[in-house]
Amino acid sequence: MTTLPMRLTAPVPGWTTRADVVVIGSGIAGLTAALRIHSALRERSDDDGARVLVVTKDVLSAGSTQWAQGGIAAALGPGDTPEQHLSDTLVAGAGACDVEAVRVLVTEGPEAVQELIDLGTRFDHHDGVLSLTREGGHHRDRIAHAGGDATGAEIQRALIAAVEASSGIEVIQHALALDLLRDADGRAAGVTLHVIGEGQRDGVGAVHARAVVLASGGMGQVFSQSTNPAVSTGDGMALALRAGARLRDLEFVQFHPTVMYLGPDSRGQQPLISEAVRGEGAFLVDFEGNRFMRGQHELADLAPRDVVAKAITRRMLETGQPHMWLDARHLGAEFWERRFPTILATCRSHGVDPINELIPVAPAQHYASGGVVTDLWGRTDITGLYATGEVACSGVHGANRLASNSLLEGLVFSRRIAEVLPDELAPWAEPVADDRPRGVVDGAARGELQRTMTEQAGVLRSQAGLNAAEVELRELLERPVGAIDVAAWETTNVLTLSLALHSGASAREETRGSHWREDYPERDDAAFAGHFDIRLVDADLVQTFIPAAATDLLPTSPGA
Ligand code: SIN
Repeated sequence: MTTLPMRLTAPVPGWTTRADVVVIGSGIAGLTAALRIHSALRERSDDDGARVLVVTKDVLSAGSTQWAQGGIAAALGPGDTPEQHLSDTLVAGAGACDVEAVRVLVTEGPEAVQELIDLGTRFDHHDGVLSLTREGGHHRDRIAHAGGDATGAEIQRALIAAVEASSGIEVIQHALALDLLRDADGRAAGVTLHVIGEGQRDGVGAVHARAVVLASGGMGQVFSQSTNPAVSTGDGMALALRAGARLRDLEFVQFHPTVMYLGPDSRGQQPLISEAVRGEGAFLVDFEGNRFMRGQHELADLAPRDVVAKAITRRMLETGQPHMWLDARHLGAEFWERRFPTILATCRSHGVDPINELIPVAPAQHYASGGVVTDLWGRTDITGLYATGEVACSGVHGANRLASNSLLEGLVFSRRIAEVLPDELAPWAEPVADDRPRGVVDGAARGELQRTMTEQAGVLRSQAGLNAAEVELRELLERPVGAIDVAAWETTNVLTLSLALHSGASAREETRGSHWREDYPERDDAAFAGHFDIRLVDADLVQTFIPAAATDLLPTSPGA
């Protein structure tokens, strides 16, 4: 196979089920969408029969939300305003944000967080007042957190409890979504999926639905080291691309600056050391003890994370060291135990005691700022297909997501989808056969693919490296395929997205936000103020440059 598949090779579905709406993914975006859509459908009809189905790849709690440490950003503190949150978000986004989308995020954010509290999420308080901290790029304390550094886990707990208490929301766990089903008018009409389980719904099946919501998270597994869990193989983005939807800004991959360095051979999910640790006073030093963030940016160690990731990488290159150090010893034992219990335990489990030792840190893949293009209501190019959370490109992150805006994005835009979707639901229609070319790549190719992407399209990119990567990636498309199984489907998704990401990274001959071109070190607004959109047409990727609206261009990232 030298071209990309338009459908995954898979057995004919052996079972079928129906739901009004199927939600793919069970993090903050997926569960918020499921809860809100379900209650909106019930409000609109007299009967309780509305069926919402959540499909999740592992167990309900296994996605990225569970791992979010720092918190959720919203203008909730004294003196803070949505306007200031907007300004910080736009600066971090390096001129590639959609200003209207950011305005939606920051103005609806406070109410959405309050709703999470009403749902039972126990955020940390001090003397009865919500505790707020600061992270990179924020000029105010505006990050609400829970369990010290276990914010995502607490939000996930509260949402799962609400879903379990709600009759009418069904869940299928251990299910990998394969491809979108369409009706005769081209509307989304469900998905095919593969369930790893025992019983009636085992193997490949089909969910017929009147609408599909993608909330399946990111694509961290494109790279060898990521803070994302193993399930983050970009399945929702690849499914949307194969179905004909547009992806945008894939080159803007965020590398978190402070991921615990576990050695050169460490692969897969790596331990995150939250920016909140720097928010509470920790700082970066090199092997000589120099605080190298000083003088790089007005916010020093709390500069936007692309600035910090670049500074760490630069220092690693200059000194020939494989990592830098985070010094948080002065925070003291009592503070560490109360504020960062999860990170403390993780560091200790890897033989580092941050109370009296420096933590070795290096950047690793953390977040996909791009994704499936949506409007302000989560609609994609395909009628009846919506996207929310990391899988989507709503325009709020631009070239570099501001810390702790991701949980907020999933929350706010899932609420918005629930406002419009019930009125946009089509009458039931059967999916039609799709005879476009199918294919998969060899599941065993994933390690090689990740190495190529990490070395040639990671933090630091150049045309020579990107050209070499393309040859290597295209060669993987031609390898003989072993089994048609989950590894093959996931690797096909990862390879498809690697090529799409590569395409944007190669064409964007400038440095902007999290896209760092060694050979084009400056931001170039004259040529690249805008977005690279990508589609899969006749089994190949077609990329188009979309100039940004004039209002979206203004902010620059000082020090970037
Ligand atoms: C962190 O805690 O540093 C990560 C928060 C985020 O990615 O927004």
